Amino acid sequence: MSFPQHRPRRLRTTAAMRRLVAEYSVAASDLILPVFIREGLREPKPITSMPGVFQHTTESLLVAAREAVELGLGGIMIFGIPAERDATGSASLTPDGVLNAAIREVRGAVGENLVVMSDLCLDEFTDHGHCGVLDADGTVDNDATLAIYAEMAVAQARAGAHIVAPSGMMDGQVGVIRAALDAEGFTDVSVLAYAAKYASAFYGPFREAVDSQLHGDRHSYQMDPGNRREALHEVELDLAEGADIVMVKPAMSYLDILADVAAMSPVPVAAYQISGEYAMIEAAAANGWINRRAAIEESVLSIKRAGATMILTYWAAELAGWIRSK
Ligand code: PBG
Repeated sequence: MSFPQHRPRRLRTTAAMRRLVAEYSVAASDLILPVFIREGLREPKPITSMPGVFQHTTESLLVAAREAVELGLGGIMIFGIPAERDATGSASLTPDGVLNAAIREVRGAVGENLVVMSDLCLDEFTDHGHCGVLDADGTVDNDATLAIYAEMAVAQARAGAHIVAPSGMMDGQVGVIRAALDAEGFTDVSVLAYAAKYASAFYGPFREAVDSQLHGDRHSYQMDPGNRREALHEVELDLAEGADIVMVKPAMSYLDILADVAAMSPVPVAAYQISGEYAMIEAAAANGWINRRAAIEESVLSIKRAGATMILTYWAAELAGWIRSK
């Protein structure tokens, strides 16, 4: 009988040994908490399809933001849900609109102790739910949308965002936003570009989170899940337009894309573990089919391992608490 010459199991014998040889781990500062604020709410409102996630009031949002500082999170990403929507998403531009006001409040509460990020997209603000304005045929009009994004970027920067995050997948969005910010003197406000954002079924619960009444789908602007090479093209364009950070979204079904982008990107890479990824794990755990904490930790660690510098996840605060208690 011959015995193995190589025994990888040696390095797995104790928890201390496994910790010593671990290649990747997740830090609280890697994590970004996405939050929703809804205009006119009196109480935080639970999002049914995302158990544990709420539409916030200003008060409860500030509690979450202060907790994020206390936990040492990397950042907070703010989404706003206006009371009134229209065809052009005009509530996104008013300085005291729900999102701009929330940015101002959160920035006032956290100062420089947390990176304040804002979603820069029209879908929460339009009555048709698309990420841009529509032309006469009902198609999303790329260039007309860019003009609004430029104004949104300046409004968000003025409100105090450290980073604006265009998520609408319009061609040229990073370039116009960068130019608009620079023209208004916001040269230090960064752009986190949703560079490779796919048209995913896993955004489902987000629609409830922002009360979106989307007519149709987003296939004419978000990427086709069948495409891999195209992600690198999108990233290269965003880099050329001045993106400071590039994002891959969703995360778990797109780890190959994330690894590709991490291999070529000279700037930090973000990944967004989205609403449907959250909902799947919560639902399976609620049924007792998987170990909730272990599944959450493994899912986020895999995103880190695939190459993410930072991870947006609805579990950011809970994970940071677990990391601290270890
Ligand atoms: C667009 C946007 C979406 C998400 C983040 N930004 C929705 C979409 O593209 O359909 C989804 C986030 C999630 O599902 O958690 N503003």
